[in-house]
Amino acid sequence: MGMRMGVAWLLLLTIGIFELDAVYGYVRPPPRKTLFVPHAEEDADTPQQVHISQVGQNMMRISWITDNSTPAKVSYGPSPSANALSTTGNTSSYNYLIYKSGEIHEVVVGPLNPNIVYYYRLGDQPSSPTRQFKTTPSQFPIKFAVIGDLGQTDWTRSTLEHVNKSNYDMLLLPGDLSYADLYQPLWDSFGRLVEPLASQRPWMVTQGNHEVEKIPLIHGTPFTAYNARWHMPFEESGSDSNLYYSFDVVGVHIIMLGSYTDFDSSSPQYKWLQGDLENVNRAKTPWVVVLIHAPWYNSNTAHQGEFESVEMKASMEGLLYQAHVDIVFAGHVHAYERFTRVYQDKTNNCAPMYINIGDGGNREGLATKYIDPKPKISIFREASFGHGVFEVVNASHALWTWHKNDNDEAVVSDSIWFTSFSSNPSCKQ
Ligand SMILES: *[C@@H]1O[C@H](CO)[C@@H](O)[C@H](O)[C@H]1NC(C)=O
Ligand SMILES: *[C@@H]1O[C@H](CO)[C@@H](O)[C@H](O)[C@H]1NC(C)=O
Ligand SMILES: *[C@@H]1O[C@H](CO)[C@@H](O)[C@H](O)[C@H]1NC(C)=O
Ligand SMILES: [Fe+2]
Repeated sequence: MGMRMGVAWLLLLTIGIFELDAVYGYVRPPPRKTLFVPHAEEDADTPQQVHISQVGQNMMRISWITDNSTPAKVSYGPSPSANALSTTGNTSSYNYLIYKSGEIHEVVVGPLNPNIVYYYRLGDQPSSPTRQFKTTPSQFPIKFAVIGDLGQTDWTRSTLEHVNKSNYDMLLLPGDLSYADLYQPLWDSFGRLVEPLASQRPWMVTQGNHEVEKIPLIHGTPFTAYNARWHMPFEESGSDSNLYYSFDVVGVHIIMLGSYTDFDSSSPQYKWLQGDLENVNRAKTPWVVVLIHAPWYNSNTAHQGEFESVEMKASMEGLLYQAHVDIVFAGHVHAYERFTRVYQDKTNNCAPMYINIGDGGNREGLATKYIDPKPKISIFREASFGHGVFEVVNASHALWTWHKNDNDEAVVSDSIWFTSFSSNPSCKQ
């Protein structure tokens, strides 16, 4: 009897485990440890934390940091000798509590030819190593890598390795970069961590809550480190703030919005956005893409009802809808979720598609709990680390894929083809 009971239990247990496995076949990975990338044992004149970002149609801003005061000079050209041209720029630094940043150099180079490799050297020391970057193409296709809430952990490293293999043209980051969270040396570490990628392809970012770093009465100015280190091309888009800007790349108009600065209908950001959307020429840029940090649609239990999500959506959703924005990427929630086309919480075939991609790999880990049952407008949701690839094939078609970090392999776990509003006569104004 006892024996038979034992066998029955074993059987039940086996079936039970089998079923559990079918339901929870993928074991959610725990957070991984925070990395700190130290300063290499080099002299204080050595350029570090190099990253580049596109300025206008055919210029590139190159940013780097040295400990010592060195010339903000770039020698560059299409051949490995990197000496055809040279340009100088500006140097700045900032203080944050007892921390003083290194010398932050910025040089805008160009005009550059599309879709070729440029070689460049920083500073004026002959021993300065030659780096290279590739400019974006001048026509479709173009491939964007999209990662939110990147941070600097072993998961971040894994995500970056996968992105590196994707042969992307430009990276888009919807906020939360370093997770320095007031401890400024982590900004330097982040700069070193991303340099191998960010010095080779333009990285276009917008800010998240982790970039604010304001301490009432002690450090009252928000975004000090972010603005000093990640100068985006806001001046060129008529914006008065590094916290929101836009630019064109191939046939895509990309708008970076600021979730942590004013967005009400009387705010400078709102007025700028209104003007920017009015000036979009669909014949020139058939696609319009928007990035924000705090998502407007979200069926994860994390970050529900936050001011930046609810009020920014209430203020600006109509503008994006009327302008036929094709897609809105957000971060903040540490998971992946894709919605259908939606306006005012309802499926609407003439509204933007919303994708939350806040799963880059930061130290806070994944947001694993979801609102049950799944709302109809949510098509795919999963709490795993990963990155997205948005490949715009031509004026009408784009392929979106989400690549999950399954252990350390990048596995395509969600993919969808979709079409632009400019190619859809039923949604034209
Ligand atoms: C350098 O800074 C000045 C003052 O902020 C600005 O007017 C100028 O355009 C900058 N030059 C470059 C090359 O960035
Ligand atoms: C990126 O890929 C290149 C070529 O495949 C490789 O040499 C390089 O080490 C990679 N870098 C990183 C940071 O993964
Ligand atoms: C755009 O790309 C899609 C997908 O590859 C293709 O089916 C379509 O024919 C292309 N359109 C044009 C105008 O080339
Ligand atoms: Fe966030």
